Amino acid sequence: MLESAAPEFSAGDEVIVIGFDLGMGTAGGFGERIRVPAGWVVPRPEGLSLRASMALGTAGFTAAECVDKLERMGGLSPAQGPVLVTGATGGVGSVAVMLLSQLGYEVVAVTGKAEKGEWLKGLGASEVLSREALAEGAGKPLLAERYAGAVDTVGGELLFNAVKSLRYGGSLAACGLVASPAIPATVLPFILRHVNLLGIDSVQWPLAEKKRLWGRLAKEWQLPALETLVEPLSLETLSDALDRILAGEMVGRGLLIHSAAA
Ligand SMILES: NC(=O)c1ccc[n+]([C@@H]2O[C@H](COP(=O)([O-])OP(=O)(O)OC[C@H]3O[C@@H](n4cnc5c(N)ncnc54)[C@H](OP(=O)(O)O)[C@@H]3O)[C@@H](O)[C@H]2O)c1
Repeated sequence: MLESAAPEFSAGDEVIVIGFDLGMGTAGGFGERIRVPAGWVVPRPEGLSLRASMALGTAGFTAAECVDKLERMGGLSPAQGPVLVTGATGGVGSVAVMLLSQLGYEVVAVTGKAEKGEWLKGLGASEVLSREALAEGAGKPLLAERYAGAVDTVGGELLFNAVKSLRYGGSLAACGLVASPAIPATVLPFILRHVNLLGIDSVQWPLAEKKRLWGRLAKEWQLPALETLVEPLSLETLSDALDRILAGEMVGRGLLIHSAAA
């Protein structure tokens, strides 16, 4: 931090800002110097470097938020069975695979990139499914009970096929809409299988909750292999990386490093 008009912060503090209006109505997501309200700012917790915090970024944080909510509200634990992750090679998905695997879960990763199967296994997935395989049975009211939990980053038909494949009482955390914001749903999995659909928002989630979760990511949820997901970017290579993201070709996390910080 270069300067602060808020009494709780001082020049030289190391801090993390994600969500709220940053990068949306308030420019600065890629800025070299930005000014933000103090109410958006989390002090960097000990145990998490600034680089690791941004290697996680909003996507990694959101993956952790999904796992946190699945465990706290869905009662999920590794003993209950496999956990499905969709959009697995993406920013949220790849961190979800790594975190769940590190926590002892059996992870089934869904991807549209068949050539990334071994990469996903390297992150800790025990099985890799194609999007087409998860989309099978879309017309059926229910599918075989397979997963104790799911992290869905894509929405649409895949989200609801995952809901229909949850074991009795299982939960799915929905955070994304890469495929579609619409869900072709019936109430049947909810009233016959007691399953839960959990909503995930990292943007307006209260600062106190953000501090709590960054604290977990600095301690018991620290990811020693996080750097394997990182592609370093500069302002010069950013535009190309954004094109690859829009074309669905990006894998893992792009980390923008400003020359002053390099
Ligand atoms: N709720 C929140 O607070 C929050 C926070 C962060 C992100 N998000 C949302 O979460 C989603 C994922 O974000 P991200 O940062 O992980 O994005 P990303 O890095 O672009 O990854 C998205 C992944 O989705 C898969 N995919 C792409 N097109 C698809 C399609 N048509 N159908 C099914 N899968 C497709 C791809 O993985 P595979 O090739 O491996 O299938 C892709 O790598 C986005 O919708 C984003 O807006 C929400």
